[in-house]
Amino acid sequence: MASSKPLKWSYSFSVFFFSFSFVVLQVRGAAKTAPVVGNISKVDDAQLFHIYYGQSFKVIKNSIDGKSYLLMQNNSRMASRTKYCTGRIKSFVIPLSNYSVDTTNFPVSFFELLGLLDSLKGITSDEVTSQCILKSLTSGNIQLVNRTDIQQLSQFSAHFISNVDAEQACNFAAFVPMDESTPLQRAEWIKYLATFTNSEARANSVYDAVKANYICLSKSAANLKSRFKPVVAWVEYNQGIWSFAKEDYKLQYVTDAGGENVDGTITNNLYNVSDPEDMENFHAILCTVDVVIDQTYALKPAEYTLSTFLENMDIGDSSCFGFITNQSLWRYDKRMRDSATLDWFDGALAQPQLVLADLIEVFFPTGNYTTTYFRNLAKEEGVTGIGPDMCDKSTSTPMEPTVVPCK
Ligand SMILES: *[C@@H]1O[C@H](CO)[C@@H](O)[C@H](O)[C@H]1NC(C)=O
Ligand SMILES: *[C@@H]1O[C@H](CO)[C@@H](O)[C@H](O)[C@H]1NC(C)=O
Ligand SMILES: *[C@@H]1O[C@H](CO)[C@@H](O)[C@H](O)[C@H]1NC(C)=O
Ligand SMILES: *[C@@H]1O[C@H](CO)[C@@H](O)[C@H](O)[C@H]1NC(C)=O
Ligand SMILES: *[C@@H]1O[C@H](CO)[C@@H](O)[C@H](O)[C@H]1NC(C)=O
Ligand SMILES: *[C@@H]1O[C@H](CO)[C@@H](O)[C@H](O)[C@H]1NC(C)=O
Ligand SMILES: *[C@@H]1O[C@H](CO)[C@@H](O)[C@H](O)[C@H]1NC(C)=O
Repeated sequence: MASSKPLKWSYSFSVFFFSFSFVVLQVRGAAKTAPVVGNISKVDDAQLFHIYYGQSFKVIKNSIDGKSYLLMQNNSRMASRTKYCTGRIKSFVIPLSNYSVDTTNFPVSFFELLGLLDSLKGITSDEVTSQCILKSLTSGNIQLVNRTDIQQLSQFSAHFISNVDAEQACNFAAFVPMDESTPLQRAEWIKYLATFTNSEARANSVYDAVKANYICLSKSAANLKSRFKPVVAWVEYNQGIWSFAKEDYKLQYVTDAGGENVDGTITNNLYNVSDPEDMENFHAILCTVDVVIDQTYALKPAEYTLSTFLENMDIGDSSCFGFITNQSLWRYDKRMRDSATLDWFDGALAQPQLVLADLIEVFFPTGNYTTTYFRNLAKEEGVTGIGPDMCDKSTSTPMEPTVVPCK
C-alpha cells in the first residue's frame, strides 16, 4: 500500500497543472481584488512551506519532504475524480473528517489550538504532553493505533507524521515545524495544518495573537534596565562529552529575551570529561557565564538534579560558577509526561511567547512570574507530570493561546 504508484495520473495531471498555474497568477493579483476564497492564510515568517489557493482547491508546497499537497474541497468535481499519490504529489479531500497522528516527536498542541481534537481519532502512543488528548484516549474517543500498520492507518482521511524519511502511505502528510530556524517561524506552521480543515481564520487569529505577544515581550526585554546583558549558554552532556548547543532558534530566544549568547566562536567545541585540558577550557568558559541551561537528555527527568549536573561536570570546586552562586542553572523539562516526553518539544513550539516570557524571568528575575517550561536546578525545582485529569475543558473547545501580560 505504501507505494509511490501514480493513481489516475495521466488522467488529471495536465488539468491540475493547468489550473494550478492559472491560480498562481490570480493569487499574485489578489492583493487589490477580493481573495480567491473566503478564508486564506498568508505565510509571513515561515520559510519551509508555501500555500497557494484555487477556487476549489489549495496546494501546500513543503520544502522538507519536497512534496506538493493538493487539497480539494469535498464539494468540488475534482475531489471525486482525482487522486494523486506519487513521490512528489499527494492529494486529500478537505475538510478532513478525521485524522490520526504518529505521536513520535510530533507537536499535537497545534491541533488543540485549532480546536480539532474531536476529529483526531487515532494516535500511536500515549506519550503526548496534551492532557486533553490523554482524556480523549481514556474516554475512548481516540484509539491507539500501530504506527507501522499501514493497513490500519488507512482508515483515516489523513495520518500526520513528522519523520519524513520513514515509509509512507498515500494518506500520510508530513508536518515539520521543528525544522524552521526561528521560534515564530515554527509557530506559524499552525497555518499549514489549518488548510486541511478550512480552519484558516482560526489559525490566523492564533498566530497573530502569539506573534503580537512575542514581539511585545521581546521589546519590553530590550528596554529592561540592566547594566550588562546576562551571558547565556545552552549545554549538553552526552557519553562523556560536554558541548554547547547551537540551534538557531535557541540562540534567537536568548537575544529576543534580552540576553547574550556565549561567544559563538567557541560553541563548536566538544569537551571530553576524560581530558583534563578540555575540561579546564570548558570550566573557564562556564566561569564567564551568568545563566546555564542544561539540556542533557535524562531518561527520568524528575531524577535529574543539581548533583547530577555537578557529577557530569566532574568538578570539585564549583565556586567560580556564577550561575551556581547566583542560582541560575535551568532545564527545559518542567512540563512532561510520565517518562521522558517533554512539552518543550510540543506546546513550546506552538506557543513560543511562553518560552520567551520564561527566559525573560530567567534572565531578569522578578519572582512574580511562574515559568511554564523551565525549572531551576540550582533551587531544586521539580517537574510537573501531565495527566488526563488535568484537562478541564471539553475536547471540542479550542485551546486559547496564553497571552502573557506585557506593556
Ligand atoms: C470565513 O470564516 C468565517 C469565520 O470562521 C466564517 O464565518 C465564514 O463563513 C468563512 N467564509 C468562507 C467563505 O468560508
Ligand atoms: C463537506 O464537508 C462538510 C464539513 O465537514 C460537510 O458538512 C459536508 O457534508 C461535506 N460535503 C460532501 C459533499 O461531502
Ligand atoms: C474517516 O472519514 C472517512 C471519510 O469520511 C471515512 O470513510 C472513514 O470511515 C472515517 N474513519 C474513521 C476512523 O472514522
Ligand atoms: C504493528 O504492525 C506491524 C506491521 O503490520 C506488525 O508487524 C507488528 O507486529 C504490529 N505491532 C503490534 C504491537 O501489533
Ligand atoms: C575521551 O577521551 C578518552 C581519553 O583520552 C578517550 O579514551 C575517549 O575515546 C574520548 N572520547 C571521545 C568520545 O572522544
Ligand atoms: C550575581 O548576580 C548579581 C546581580 O545580577 C551580580 O552583580 C553578581 O556579579 C553575580 N555574581 C556572580 C558570582 O556572578
Ligand atoms: C510584582 O507584581 C506586583 C503586582 O503585580 C507589582 O506591584 C510588583 O512591582 C512586581 N514586582 C516586580 C519585582 O516586578
